[in-house]
Amino acid sequence: MAKSALLKSSIAKKYWMALTGLFLCLFLAGHLAGNLQLIFGSSQDFNEYALFMTSNPAVKLLSYVTYISIIFHAIDGILLTIQNKKARPVAYAKNSPGANSGFASRNMAVLGTVILVFIVTHMINFWAKMHFDENMPLVQKEIVGQTGEKQIQLVGNKDSQMDYFQLDESGKLSKEFFENIKIQTQGQYLLEIKDVTKIVNTKDGEVIFQGYKDLHKITFDFFRDAKTGLLFTLLYVLAMLALGFHLWHGFASAFQSLGLNNPKFNAGIKFFGRAFSVVVPLLFAIIPLYIHFTK
Ligand code: HEM
Repeated sequence: MAKSALLKSSIAKKYWMALTGLFLCLFLAGHLAGNLQLIFGSSQDFNEYALFMTSNPAVKLLSYVTYISIIFHAIDGILLTIQNKKARPVAYAKNSPGANSGFASRNMAVLGTVILVFIVTHMINFWAKMHFDENMPLVQKEIVGQTGEKQIQLVGNKDSQMDYFQLDESGKLSKEFFENIKIQTQGQYLLEIKDVTKIVNTKDGEVIFQGYKDLHKITFDFFRDAKTGLLFTLLYVLAMLALGFHLWHGFASAFQSLGLNNPKFNAGIKFFGRAFSVVVPLLFAIIPLYIHFTK
């Protein structure tokens, strides 16, 4: 490829990296705010938030933009690294005027790879469970029935017309229970579970009950696991260290790639970027540490 064409495609890639990178910073701020409820909120607050995040259409759309941004950012990063290796110093010198050669700026590709591995394993452990695991536990509480015996009641955001939903020993709604309701209501209520959490009357589609998946329990169990909890807590802290270094260089560099390096604001952008790259990963790292060491 001719040098000018190489430079052009490299500038376009840096532009997209910057745009997707800054969008991912917004995602990080929102994700952190939600996750801090694991420390400062109740389990109910966190599970309500998780239900909102997985069911609200606008949030769903933002989630898709996040997944696409991660993929674009990673692919562009890999391509740029390969391109820069072949054509250095042209691409670097022209595209990142103020780039220093500190640890972070020299290791953006390695740091990015660590973060990508983290995101993939992180999504397998939490996101995939929340979205696809049919055996995900539902939020439940113990109540004392009229005759004094203990019963397990599901907790949700839609009040049930039934007094409670009896769970079997594995914590699931039993088929017999649904059969009983059908018989007792002479077929008026033909209940069925949809999307793991909803109990729907298939006769008219009415949602009788909307339960919560217990993502709070999944998260706490994950970091408190007797065998792997400490290991994952430490790996999360290391990943947040990589994230901090990646942001340390990446944040201000993104503004330069977008051509937004007005001398008036440069110092402010640099300061904000550095504050963001310390505070956000630090707060993220505190979450698993808090969960693990307060068991
Ligand atoms: C260390 C503290 C963190 C905790 C406790 C945590 C927890 C979670 C949980 C519980 C979910 C599932 C939520 C759902 O599907 O609704 C999730 C999703 C996700 N997390 Fe994290 N997370 C942490 C840090 C991070 C970091 C640092 C990143 C990125 C570098 C990240 C990226 C993601 C992504 C991309 C998703 C999928 C989001 C979506 O579907 O919209 N997480 N996280």
